[in-house]
Amino acid sequence: MKAQPVAAFPIVLLALSSTVYAADTENGRRIADRWCTSCHVVSGRGSTTNTPGGTDAVPTLASIARDPARGPNWLRQWLTSPHPPMPDLSLSRAEIDDVVAYLQTLSR
Ligand code: HEC
Repeated sequence: MKAQPVAAFPIVLLALSSTVYAADTENGRRIADRWCTSCHVVSGRGSTTNTPGGTDAVPTLASIARDPARGPNWLRQWLTSPHPPMPDLSLSRAEIDDVVAYLQTLSR
């Protein structure tokens, strides 16, 4: 029965990593709704009616998500330090991961 603690160890690690690191697309959507849609329209169809604050001077979130040059790493980098005219929203790394995961769902 000496082996038991050893066998349990990876299971604890797995449980920890899934709660700490798994990006949450639902939370990403909430963050985006609150922090991004005052400037960015979400939908790629060009309608601004669902997001009154959005303008066509700013790329839609869907068009950003579909741009092959705007992969998850690029997006993380951008959201860590955006440049003008987009303000730095000071999102945490976990929030950025969630937003990036949410953006990936828009590209489908
Ligand atoms: C106050 C307005 C504003 C807010 C809020 C805002 N953005 Fe932006 N964003 C902009 C503008 C303006 C640009 C265009 C920058 C440019 O053309 O160089 C931009 C550009 C971007 C780009 C780069 C697009 C590209 O192809 O270069 C990404 C990605 C982006 N925004 C994501 C987000 C996300 C995600 C959020 C919410 C967490 C957000 N933005 C919130 C105004 C905003």
